[in-house]
Amino acid sequence: MRAKISSWTRHDHNIMPPAAKTVGNYVNSSLAKVEALKAGYDEAIMLAPNGLVAECTGENIFVVRDGKILTPPLSAGALEGITQNSVMTIARDLGFDVRVDNIARSDLYIAEEIFVCGTAAEVGSVREVDDRPIPCPGPKTMAIGQAYRRAVRGQDKKYSHWCELAK
Ligand SMILES: Cc1ncc(COP(=O)(O)O)c(C=O)c1O
Repeated sequence: MRAKISSWTRHDHNIMPPAAKTVGNYVNSSLAKVEALKAGYDEAIMLAPNGLVAECTGENIFVVRDGKILTPPLSAGALEGITQNSVMTIARDLGFDVRVDNIARSDLYIAEEIFVCGTAAEVGSVREVDDRPIPCPGPKTMAIGQAYRRAVRGQDKKYSHWCELAK
C-alpha cells in the first residue's frame, strides 16, 4: 500500500487512551484515513504529539532498519494490538531481531521494509511513504506474512492454540 503521514496527530494519553480499541478513538482514525484516501493514498501513518511514529488508522506498524524489526511502544500512541503481539512472536521464532522502540518520521523514509498488521489487515507491506519508495515486498515482510497467514488459519501446529477452529 501507499501511505501518507497524516496531518492529524494521534491523540495524547491524557485525551483518549490510544492503546485501547475504543469506539471513540476511531474519530481520530477516520479523519486521518479519509484525508489519506482523498489525497490518493491507501492509508495514513499517524504521529504522536511529540512527532514519533504511533501507528496507522487501523493497524500497528513495523519498520525494518539496519536489519532490526522495530514497532512503536504503547507510550508512542500505538494500540496494544493482538496481531502486533502475534507478529512479534512469529518474527522472533523466525530468528529475527524484534524490538519495541521509538521510530522517527525520518526512519520511515530510509526504511529497508515497512509493514502494517491488524486483525482485518493481517500483514500488509508498504511500498511508499509520502511518495518515497520503500523496497516492497521485503524478505522479512514476506516471511512473516506467510507464517502469519498459516498461523491464523490453523495450518501451523506451533500456533494452533491461537485458533478456536483448530482446537
Ligand atoms: C488503530 C488500530 N491500531 C491497531 C489495530 C490492530 O489491532 P489488532 O491486531 O488487535 O486487530 C487496530 C485494529 O482494529 C486499530 O484499529
